[in-house]
Amino acid sequence: MNTRNKAVITAVEAFLPDYILDNEMLSKMVDTTDEWIMSRIGVKERRILKEDGLGTSHMGAEAVKKLLEKTGTKPEEIDMLLCATVSPDMLFPATANIICDKTGIMNAWGYDINAGCSGFLFSFETAASFIESGRSKKMILVTGERMSAMTDYTDRTTCPLFGDAAVAMMIEPTQEDGAGLLDSILHVDGVGRHFLYQKAGGSMYPPTEETLKNREHYIYQDGQTVFKNAVSRMADVSVEIMEKNSLTSQDIAYLVPHQANMRIIEATGKRMGLQKEKILINIAKFGNTAGTSIPLVIWEFEKKFKKGDVLIFSAFGAGFTWGSMYYKWAYDSK
Ligand code: UT7
Repeated sequence: MNTRNKAVITAVEAFLPDYILDNEMLSKMVDTTDEWIMSRIGVKERRILKEDGLGTSHMGAEAVKKLLEKTGTKPEEIDMLLCATVSPDMLFPATANIICDKTGIMNAWGYDINAGCSGFLFSFETAASFIESGRSKKMILVTGERMSAMTDYTDRTTCPLFGDAAVAMMIEPTQEDGAGLLDSILHVDGVGRHFLYQKAGGSMYPPTEETLKNREHYIYQDGQTVFKNAVSRMADVSVEIMEKNSLTSQDIAYLVPHQANMRIIEATGKRMGLQKEKILINIAKFGNTAGTSIPLVIWEFEKKFKKGDVLIFSAFGAGFTWGSMYYKWAYDSK
């Protein structure tokens, strides 16, 4: 029997802003159509956090409060909180710290992780290291994005893509044989920094009138280059984790992919030899919520999962960052 701790997700909760921006409304803002967006991307609508003065920590804290309530956990029982985000409240302090303050989590430490749309994979791997080593016993992993804060709603090539949301997951140790995070393959390639970035606002290009005028505080994406890399690398790494663990498409209950583009998701599922029913998709409702998209799928489809189900998490994003995880679901969801 394997007596080493493994990291398991024991509960999941989400916060979604009420405001819905649909393709109809977008087509009045930029030169686009529902037909183009649905056929090229697959997004119908996305949630937007509209209120001034609220950032990613607001959504993250609301998700954490729901998680604590659902699990009957006192804030002081949490020993660590990580937050994966590319849209932190501020460059510093970390959004993780702000979420702790807003939720009364005072016996924990933690920090933010920036890994683009692979944010969940990279932060879950980090979380698992603390859990496996015994250094953390009860951790909350938050993934949260206010992508609308850096989306240019005059740029039709990027504004249909993104949405806002936050998810909080309880991560705990188990010694149960076979359950939890079993394997990961993660990659970075800094060449990607030329194709998907928010240029200004950091230390290389601090905010100036010039950067504002040039709209450099918004997301820039060379869509086709990112698309080509995403399709091949996300599919390759998903097949690689299957081969490495001798998994066939029959062994896999569900692929839980990053929700960037329907066509990328379908290409990945096809390369893995999966039937359509095994590929979980909610991009139409929420768009691309970056590192939050995989947790948002887990949250939405949680009731489908049975104890022992093999899930493959796969993502590709800014950096470039990409990877896949082999995870065995640990409970029957009610
Ligand atoms: O999550 C992080 C990783 N990100 C991704 O994985 C995203 C990867 N990229 C993509 O998903 C796609 O590249 C996009 C959805 C962003 C764009 O789709 P595409 O099929 O690559 O379109 P394109 O950029 O090649 O543009 C095709 C045409 C162009 O017109 P012309 O030059 O052929 O006349 C664009 O101007 O579509 C035009 N176009 C639009 N038309 C209507 C671009 N955006 C729009 C739009 N509505 N919103």
